[in-house]
Amino acid sequence: MEVRIKPINKTLTAATGTSLLDLLRDNEVPVSYSCLSGRCGTCRCKVISGEVKGPIAAEGRLASNGQYVLACQSSVESDCEIEIPEPDEVIIHPTKTLKAEVTAFDVLADDVRRLRLKTAKPLEYSPGQYANLTFWKEGTRAYSMAGLAEDNELEFHIRLVPGGRVTSQLDENIKVGAKLKLNGPLGASYLRRKHEGPMLCIATGTGLAPILSILRGALESGMQNDIHLLFGARTEADLYGLNYLNTLAADFPNFNYQICLSHTGEHKQYRLGLVTDVLAEDFPDLSDWRIYLAGAPAMVEAASLAATRRGADMDHIYADAFYPSG
Ligand code: FES
Repeated sequence: MEVRIKPINKTLTAATGTSLLDLLRDNEVPVSYSCLSGRCGTCRCKVISGEVKGPIAAEGRLASNGQYVLACQSSVESDCEIEIPEPDEVIIHPTKTLKAEVTAFDVLADDVRRLRLKTAKPLEYSPGQYANLTFWKEGTRAYSMAGLAEDNELEFHIRLVPGGRVTSQLDENIKVGAKLKLNGPLGASYLRRKHEGPMLCIATGTGLAPILSILRGALESGMQNDIHLLFGARTEADLYGLNYLNTLAADFPNFNYQICLSHTGEHKQYRLGLVTDVLAEDFPDLSDWRIYLAGAPAMVEAASLAATRRGADMDHIYADAFYPSG
């Protein structure tokens, strides 16, 4: 059986039922992966033609004709053509489970806490990725790293959800020195370093954490791309992290940001409206941009739609879906 790989135009030979990811790795095809268990989405590939058995095959169906599959969970079932995403942007950070100790747990806003952890061994990750934190038995939640892998400690921003099964108990139970477990990195919404054109980042709430990681990853490594951030909140009281943003804006002339408040009256410094309104007004042409979205699923969906209407390529819009869990 032959498997043709786009866009690098390589033809591989495989037996029916071969794991797609094993086939790609064995033949040194550049493909990203992380968790190897179908959770992170990093290994997503497109089936152009032929048949691939993947997670959508739960109902016994095969993927073909432009459908996406997770290579780590898929096998090739016929001659086929596969498209790998962004072959020059490959990341490989195998997911690990590490012990971690709390070094700080402090207040960023009324309902947002900053958690800092020291892990027993270093965690390699790309800016924008996330990890599962297990605070106690049946107390696991996913949070994005807000810093960079080279920082001494890991930083996470946690929104406390009133009545939330886990987060409403953190203030009481998480102290400096507390031990927890971390599983990561996960996620495909990581910084693309090879792109030289403009970048638009949009964050709402604690979606600022992965976006800060992406901003620092780009700016501190010397990327010269024009980088714009829209950071949305309901009211001024819901904002946090402006000190981080002011420092970046002062240090890097190719970075600017705007705060968008959806529920408050006129304010000199801030824009009034949703981040998607500001996107529509200020960014008429997003072709050849890279777009990073992090926040409430409704915002991510609306911003993706608005961006594609302004010429953004769906494959260049990066977001990990986070559904609120307390
Ligand atoms: Fe395939 Fe994570 S490596 S989904």
